[in-house]
Amino acid sequence: MMERSAGVWTVAGALAVSLTLAMVAAQATWATPNPTPQPATFGTALGLQETFEYVGSSKCKKCHLPQFKSWEKTTMGNTFDVLRPGERVDAKLDAGLDPDEDYTADPACLECHSVGYGESSGFKSLEATPDLAGTGCESCHGPGSAYIADNVMGNKNKNHSFDEVFAKGVLFPVPEETCLKCHNERSPFTADLDPKYEWVYSRETLDEQTHRHLQMKYDHGPLPAGTLFQESQ
Ligand code: HEC
Ligand code: HEC
Ligand code: HEC
Ligand code: HEC
Repeated sequence: MMERSAGVWTVAGALAVSLTLAMVAAQATWATPNPTPQPATFGTALGLQETFEYVGSSKCKKCHLPQFKSWEKTTMGNTFDVLRPGERVDAKLDAGLDPDEDYTADPACLECHSVGYGESSGFKSLEATPDLAGTGCESCHGPGSAYIADNVMGNKNKNHSFDEVFAKGVLFPVPEETCLKCHNERSPFTADLDPKYEWVYSRETLDEQTHRHLQMKYDHGPLPAGTLFQESQ
């Protein structure tokens, strides 16, 4: 059992976080007027005491194989590759980009085509951080260093409460604000260029484009009310 004083702090902290997330999910918008990418760590953004580091998508694979395999097949599992020369030639020409140029080390692109670019534990280069290329698990679910521990999310604590993992940085359900860090007007491919790039956030988008969603196996207690995830059950 936890020590009393520590327990009180933890419960209060977790409650604050879950309330924040519930509000975020219910309103499908965060309290920032301008949805541009935020360089601050997720921990700081959520007002948590700890900061968390990116560990890479392959660390999630051993426990979430179906999600991993399905994610790999989505366009977002491969967003890094479109930066290579010769890829998506017509689209690049339409957007005024040079199809022969190698954009895989261009900071102007990596902020949205890799995980955590610009943060201390985020993507550096394909050689140094290959597991952080593209839109990875942690682009949507938050940096994993603390929550993937066996006694938090993992094998020794499969029935973890949502509050426990929220306090360690998990984003779940994923608020639209997280998508808007990349799906915004700073992208070269927006509805201004072609209506086909219009941003639509719906249950269908989440199901078809992020990965295939599975019913949770273990008991985690109730999710924050009013979320898209609950509505679909
Ligand atoms: C602010 C985030 C952001 C930045 C910066 C960004 N992208 Fe993207 N990019 C996106 C998003 C979001 C999409 C998906 C658009 C869609 O399909 O609706 C995308 C799509 C693409 C595509 C696929 C287009 C298609 O129709 O096949 C290419 C190629 C691409 N980006 C290249 C680049 C390059 C090169 C740069 C840097 C010069 C860059 N992007 C900078 C967010 C960004
Ligand atoms: C583009 C965003 C995005 C990416 C990338 C992403 N997820 Fe998800 N994930 C979601 C969404 C959306 C849900 C559904 C819940 C919700 O509405 O937020 C979800 C749900 C889940 C769940 C709950 C069970 C389920 O299947 O619904 C697990 C586990 C999960 N994701 C793991 C992963 C792992 C592991 C990866 C990387 C291989 C990953 N996710 C990549 C957005 C994403
Ligand atoms: C780290 C940046 C990033 C985040 C976060 C992100 N995306 Fe994306 N997304 C991209 C990029 C880049 C592409 C372009 C992939 C390509 O064309 O190869 C893309 C493509 C897509 C597409 C495909 C568009 C098409 O017409 O083919 C959908 C749908 C999408 N994202 C939905 C989401 C949702 C929903 C979320 C949040 C739950 C999300 N994305 C979060 C970067 C991101
Ligand atoms: C050691 C095993 C393990 C690892 C590693 C792991 N997870 Fe999980 N995760 C779990 C278990 C167990 C659940 C509960 C699944 C259920 O109830 O079906 C879970 C649930 C989740 C959920 C749903 C919310 C929740 O906590 O119940 C998300 C999102 C998620 N994991 C994302 C990730 C991501 C992203 C990574 C990699 C950074 C990761 N996980 C790594 C075991 C793990």
